[in-house]
Amino acid sequence: MTKAPPSLAFLCIQSLKLQLLQGDNPIPDVYELPSELLDGVIAHLPALALHNFQTHMPFKCWDNYEAGDDCLTLTSGRKRPRNDVLGSSWKLLFKVRWPELVNSVEPSADWQQLYWEKHLQNCVDEAAEVAMRPTFSGRISSIHVSDKILRYICHEEHTNCQKCVCTELSFHFQTFGPYLRCLRLLNVLCVTETCELLRTSKLKTLVLCWIRSEKHVEPSCKLLSQNRETLTSLEFIHCKLSSSFISAICASLHEKDIHTSGIQRFYIKASSFDIDPLAAPPAFISFLNSVRSLQSVHFCDSHLDRHIARMIFSTLLDSSSGLSTLDISENNVGWLSTFTWRSVTSSLSSGKSLRSLCKLNLSGNELNKYDAENLSHALRHMPGLESLDLSGNPIEDSGIRSLISYFKKNPDSPLADLNLENCELSCCGVIEFLDTLSTVEKPLKFLSVADNALGSEVAEAIMNSLILSIESLDISSIGLGPVGFLELGKRLVKGVKKLMSINISKNRGGLETARFLSKLIPLAPKLVSVDASYNLMPPESLLMLCDSLRSAKGDLKRLDMTGNICISSETDHSSLLGEFQHNGEPIFVLPSSSTSHVPYDDEP
Ligand SMILES: *[C@@H]1O[C@H](CO)[C@@H](O)[C@H](O)[C@H]1NC(C)=O
Ligand SMILES: *[C@@H]1O[C@H](CO)[C@@H](O)[C@H](O)[C@H]1NC(C)=O
Ligand SMILES: *[C@@H]1O[C@H](CO)[C@@H](O)[C@H](O)[C@H]1NC(C)=O
Repeated sequence: MTKAPPSLAFLCIQSLKLQLLQGDNPIPDVYELPSELLDGVIAHLPALALHNFQTHMPFKCWDNYEAGDDCLTLTSGRKRPRNDVLGSSWKLLFKVRWPELVNSVEPSADWQQLYWEKHLQNCVDEAAEVAMRPTFSGRISSIHVSDKILRYICHEEHTNCQKCVCTELSFHFQTFGPYLRCLRLLNVLCVTETCELLRTSKLKTLVLCWIRSEKHVEPSCKLLSQNRETLTSLEFIHCKLSSSFISAICASLHEKDIHTSGIQRFYIKASSFDIDPLAAPPAFISFLNSVRSLQSVHFCDSHLDRHIARMIFSTLLDSSSGLSTLDISENNVGWLSTFTWRSVTSSLSSGKSLRSLCKLNLSGNELNKYDAENLSHALRHMPGLESLDLSGNPIEDSGIRSLISYFKKNPDSPLADLNLENCELSCCGVIEFLDTLSTVEKPLKFLSVADNALGSEVAEAIMNSLILSIESLDISSIGLGPVGFLELGKRLVKGVKKLMSINISKNRGGLETARFLSKLIPLAPKLVSVDASYNLMPPESLLMLCDSLRSAKGDLKRLDMTGNICISSETDHSSLLGEFQHNGEPIFVLPSSSTSHVPYDDEP
């Protein structure tokens, strides 16, 4: 077969593309091309060429109202702003390069900005790998960007281009740095040279990872002060935060004598936080105290001991800040009972409270029943609290009774989201709790009591007091068994109008699980997600659920059936997957035959 010769248009576009890639000598004539040709050119440009095209575009071509027809008329005769054409080209380039990310971006986003931001992150990640090699001794800015990346922004076959300007990292930062708003940096790149490279960037979000040695501290702080005016979110992951490092961080965020900073989110995760609570760095205290913009503070999995946690708590309590989220999860120290809460009335009237706090995460802190008692006092200092995560704390039934007394004293509490997963609760405590909840003014919307050994007796209370108002319920792994599901089904007589998701996994309910679900589904018009995995459901369950889905008029998106014995060789479940779909995705998540139980596996 002979190859067709290239068309004239193709050759012209190729030539324009090469010229545009050169960058600094723009071709004014290109902007005078008729619109349909110009759109053709734009559609074929790699990212760097499109960038140069746009950078040198004469002002008159940006807007259709002022522009001459030469810039804008489309073949249909309608006019379309050049901006639209360019915007969709950037979106297309983004989609080609990161197909997996395109759906997580707002359609109205600035695709050009996102393109270069993501591009620079790719370059930086690649450079970090190079810089990490023990043999690396060169300059960061001269690290070569790989062909794998350059292929997207310059040429299909980038290696053909010998005198390409864009091989070195420095070119990318010089050219695209102004688009960078968000960056994640590894320790090896926390060096003074990187601060130079980032001179043109105005970062809003900075994530620093693995900063553990002294030598990275100064450059990190330089980076912070360089971006002080724009930075709103700062994260440290796997870092070692010594007293002096913390002081230096806080100092670089503050301009001398002007105690302001725009930080909204301060996030420390999987790091060690080594400060002496008796001599906490004043800069840190003053940071927590004075940053008016601070909205969320996270110290997750950061070896906080009870003294530091207490210091942070009392500082925030005194600061009357506008904090809305506080997360001190996974620090494994019970500590609330060592805290003396002042009387609520005096603290609220003096304005010293966590008045604006909406979300508190205390998950995984080894809080015990005494801590829970103190917590129920502490909660009254947080009159706006909507979400409380206590999962993974052994508070036991006395702990839940402290919460009961909180709800009794505060029937109008806005608390709507409560996680009591794995809290060593028993059926007595939970039944008492559920009965109390049915008397409060604002019922919970989300509740998890998963992973507590409650048994089947809890079923009645769940159905009576809760299911009528709740939106999301997690009762996974509470030992319901067939008896529990039978009871749930028996009590289910009215419509469950608000329920959107329910997790009943790991309850060994067998066929009764399916019976309960097939009764629930038609009664729950808003139900979107059901996790019924690992319930020993036999094959006939599937047909029962199909019947129920056919008769329901709901909006179920996902019914997880993994880990059940519900596939047998006689059932052709591909037709089921075809029949029950939501937006093209199958509703049933079925066990794959290789993971289902052995007897059903080996049948011909
Ligand atoms: C906190 O707990 C301790 C120990 O149980 C107790 O002595 C103290 O009175 C409690 N404080 C408040 C305000 O509940
Ligand atoms: C609380 O923190 C844990 C562990 O860090 C996390 O898994 C969980 O999602 C958090 N809870 C909320 C409500 O954000
Ligand atoms: C339901 O609970 C199980 C066990 O806790 C958990 O693994 C699963 O992710 C939950 N399902 C959903 C949909 O959240």
